[in-house]
Amino acid sequence: MTFNWQEYTTTELRAHATTRFREGGGSRPDVMLVEIDGHKAVLKDQGGADKWFALLIGPILNWRECKALTRLSELECVPELLSVPDSRAFLMSYHDSEQITKLKSNQPNWPEFFSDLKSAIDQLHQHGVAHNDLRNPTNTLVTPDGKPILVDLVACFCRGQKWNLPNRWLFNKFAQVDHSAITKLKTRVAPELLEESDVTPEEIAGRIGMAAKELGQWVRKVSRKLFTS
Ligand SMILES: Nc1ncnc2c1ncn2[C@@H]1O[C@H](COP(=O)(O)OP(=O)(O)O)[C@@H](O)[C@H]1O
Ligand SMILES: [Mg+2]
Repeated sequence: MTFNWQEYTTTELRAHATTRFREGGGSRPDVMLVEIDGHKAVLKDQGGADKWFALLIGPILNWRECKALTRLSELECVPELLSVPDSRAFLMSYHDSEQITKLKSNQPNWPEFFSDLKSAIDQLHQHGVAHNDLRNPTNTLVTPDGKPILVDLVACFCRGQKWNLPNRWLFNKFAQVDHSAITKLKTRVAPELLEESDVTPEEIAGRIGMAAKELGQWVRKVSRKLFTS
């Protein structure tokens, strides 16, 4: 039988916190490991941020992250949403893991890990979610069997309808930023795996620059046609 996390309030969950992954304060939430009757879960509570931030922005951030986790519920590479005890907090599945740049007990097979990471990121995109904060290495965790877990979807960008071209354009850019995170992480932990084809931020900026340049040329061409005889 699965454990019923939904019957616990935020206060009760906080009372069962055994480890703090992140101390709240300023614009930061509390992120903590909660243990009840041998069952583990992670509570992310925007109520741990400064009062006004928690009051005004906390519910929006919580809603954004819960929405993304719900959209990605089929995927093994992101935590499962277990409960939303109030508008500022949610509870997710705990994954025994370490941050990719702070590995102590883990030494993954890096080629396999990066291949899995690429598939994980592609799966997110197929489900219409660009993570958008993977360049921060604290959001990529490594399990003891060397698999990636992606956390912290608060900055995500969701793909909209087909007709929403600005949204689609932005989504593609953010998807490329996710891919550039692979390059950054490889540089940090396995530089020998870097390849010519790896996406760099300069390249993305370059492509945005090219698009802006082409738009500028088109505007000038149309203006010339319209306003000169
Ligand atoms: N589901 C989880 N399982 C295990 N550890 C987690 C989980 N979620 C978060 N953590 C740990 O907590 C840290 C902070 O969580 P995160 O969601 O990134 O918060 P923040 O938005 O403050 O960066 C992560 O870097 C990771 O070490
Ligand atoms: Mg984070």
